[in-house]
Amino acid sequence: MASENARYPSLSNKTVFITGGGSGIGAALTRAFCQQGARVVFIDIAEEPSRQLVNDLERETGNAPHFEPCDIRDIKALQEVIARVEQEHGPIGVLVNNAARDDRHDWREVTPEYWDERMAINLRPQFFAIQAVAPQMERLGGGSIINFGSISWKLAQGNMPGYTTAKAAVHGLTRTMARDLGASGIRVNTVIPGCIMTERQKELWISPEDLDNILAHQCLKTELTPEHVAPTVLFLAADDSAQCSAQEYVIDGGWC
Ligand SMILES: NC(=O)c1ccc[n+]([C@@H]2O[C@H](COP(=O)([O-])OP(=O)(O)OC[C@H]3O[C@@H](n4cnc5c(N)ncnc54)[C@H](O)[C@@H]3O)[C@@H](O)[C@H]2O)c1
Repeated sequence: MASENARYPSLSNKTVFITGGGSGIGAALTRAFCQQGARVVFIDIAEEPSRQLVNDLERETGNAPHFEPCDIRDIKALQEVIARVEQEHGPIGVLVNNAARDDRHDWREVTPEYWDERMAINLRPQFFAIQAVAPQMERLGGGSIINFGSISWKLAQGNMPGYTTAKAAVHGLTRTMARDLGASGIRVNTVIPGCIMTERQKELWISPEDLDNILAHQCLKTELTPEHVAPTVLFLAADDSAQCSAQEYVIDGGWC
């Protein structure tokens, strides 16, 4: 675990909505916002780890997050959850578009259906969550949206064109929505994780040899964890970054 995070008074009692907040980087974000005294609502399809996280955070912080099972591929369900959050927890002031799926795939085998499915997880929900949350932020007089991109496409990484293409588009989505929403005091930024050693990454993709290779490329020879990503997201969510919008923040130990 990284050292204790800075405290941001502007996050206390703020309603924060996180997609994919039940495991991986998302769980570290949920924990970090709960520790700030924020009212955290997160959605995920992984129900068991999500419920476990709620229990753990109730015990650890006394400020349990609220978990709603929701598949971000179902836009109507996503819109309904976001509307319900405002009624039950107050208007959303911070949106973290974190959920994604980095399954590897051979370009030769991609069908139109599989391509659409990749976009339906990795790109489309980010836009529709922004569309649904923005009016709530307008009612608050402003807000902060943090979209998760990736260094994978900047590194010209292969073997997952449906993922890397969607992630490259996220960076464009940030820029254009920052323009459309800026006049309402809503900031939109991209956070770009490097190679973050979540349980899923270690289980599925990153062998010990891969890790050696990653550390050789990073300027900083540290195995990056979700706790290294959370402090940047807190900063971008808080009023301390009040004039930062349409930008990209890379946490990769100095690689791309
Ligand atoms: N881990 C890395 O090295 C890395 C690198 C670059 C970018 N990123 C980005 O950071 C973000 C978080 O990555 P991670 O490694 O923690 O991912 P992860 O796969 O470990 O976790 C993503 C979370 O989203 C949830 N999720 C997946 N599909 C969903 C769906 N259809 N509906 C609702 N929830 C769903 C998962 O259950 C999980 O809790 C993603 O946007 C990812 O693209 C991660």
